[in-house]
Amino acid sequence: MRELRVLILAAGKGTRMKSRKAKVLHHAGGAPLIHHVLAAAQKLSPDVWIVAGHQAEKLREILPDGKFVLQNEQLGTGHAVMQAREPFDGYTGDLLILPGDVPLISAETLQHFVRFHRDGGYSASVLSADVGNPAGYGRIVRRGDEVSAIVEHQDATPEILQISEINSSIYVFHAPALFEALTKVRNANAQLEYYLTDVIGILEAQQKKVGGFKAAQSEEVLGINTRKELVAIDRAMRRRKCDQLMADGVTIVDPESTFIDAAVEIGPDTVIHPSVQIYGRTVIGDDVTIHSFSRISNSKIGSNVSILDGSVVVDSTLGNDVSVGPYAHLRMHTKLEDGVKVGNFVEIKKSTLGEGTKAMHLAYLGDATIGKKVNIGAGTITCNYDGVNKHPTIIEDGVFIGSDSQLVAPVRIGRDAYVGAGSSITEDVPSESLAVARGRQVNKVGWVRDRKKKEKFQPGQS
Ligand code: UD1
Ligand code: CA
Repeated sequence: MRELRVLILAAGKGTRMKSRKAKVLHHAGGAPLIHHVLAAAQKLSPDVWIVAGHQAEKLREILPDGKFVLQNEQLGTGHAVMQAREPFDGYTGDLLILPGDVPLISAETLQHFVRFHRDGGYSASVLSADVGNPAGYGRIVRRGDEVSAIVEHQDATPEILQISEINSSIYVFHAPALFEALTKVRNANAQLEYYLTDVIGILEAQQKKVGGFKAAQSEEVLGINTRKELVAIDRAMRRRKCDQLMADGVTIVDPESTFIDAAVEIGPDTVIHPSVQIYGRTVIGDDVTIHSFSRISNSKIGSNVSILDGSVVVDSTLGNDVSVGPYAHLRMHTKLEDGVKVGNFVEIKKSTLGEGTKAMHLAYLGDATIGKKVNIGAGTITCNYDGVNKHPTIIEDGVFIGSDSQLVAPVRIGRDAYVGAGSSITEDVPSESLAVARGRQVNKVGWVRDRKKKEKFQPGQS
């Protein structure tokens, strides 16, 4: 069998996106468009090349292992393929060409397509689709089973515009026939571009066989040209992800309002309430409940965990039987061990909370290492920043921090110690001790009565 290599066209700017960013760098389903196309291509061949041009350096940055061909001026899809002539010099196998802006294409469809091309003994094959609204696409002109030409929308006659079979811009070519025909392509058309689509008519004129293979699911070949199309495809990808998770035993109450990135893993019997966002490389265990308006990103969450409404969890690790929120904010390598409870309006940054520790209300814990079974009272603040540097706070096992305390770092609270409510702790507290650091209360008995007598003062009036 002939060898197969892949060439992805990704040099264009994507003018219709009205963006400073190259089209293939825009995200759908949680990853840049080029990632999705590349992932499908790599399932067919180990030898995948990318034509880069507009923002080529950014493309190299996100694909450090990619093999690139440069197209410095974007003079059309045919011109883009021409730039690959050198690396493919002497190559006599097949070349699968994919545009960088068709992220829904599956490896299975591409495999069927390549098989069709080889079984039919074609010089070139085009992957096409019947679509309800063919506006903007190149149209497939057929003669029997074969394709005789592709006509771009801008160059089409009224009769050709009636054709609903469109060019997906996905092709397989016998490479020598392709590169020979490309030398004959001219740019005498509405867009003054060198069209790859013209190769089809050229091969046909050379009596070579060109096959047309219709995709079973037209959705797969939809290209993205505008932001509206980007959002539609993003939604389709997220819907696919939700469908897959539901099939694997996850309850998603409202898939329409749920955003879950492709790489996320979630265990069975987990329930996701409406309007939840789960991004990046997040892994979530079994029997977890995530309530509405929570956002979880690049985090690892154990089993039997509750994330209550409106919580944000970023770059953090949560053990089993943990409860977070409502309205909690965990970020930058926060680690909550098994059984930890973090309640309303608690912010935690770069801190570890040991097994069974609780911080139930209104606290800020930053750069803190907190042991097991610690109680952090309402309103506790670790003062970790002195205006120049960050300092650590260490709270050992079994400590009780009374409400509204400030722990001025660097500071250590020893095992089983108590901190009295309202304390400003500036020095280490030894184990099993009580620290109280606040003004002592003074009751002036009869003070109000005496004042009233002296000044004819009426309490409650001004
Ligand atoms: C192209 C096809 C059209 C097809 C449609 C499917 C041509 C002439 N037309 O049109 O028949 O129906 O795709 O989506 O091929 N690119 C380059 N260098 C260039 C120009 C484009 O690398 O000089 C890349 C783009 O980055 C993009 C792909 O080729 O990934 C397609 O280009 P685009 O401008 O979107 O082509 P369409 O006008 O959509
Ligand atoms: Ca396109």
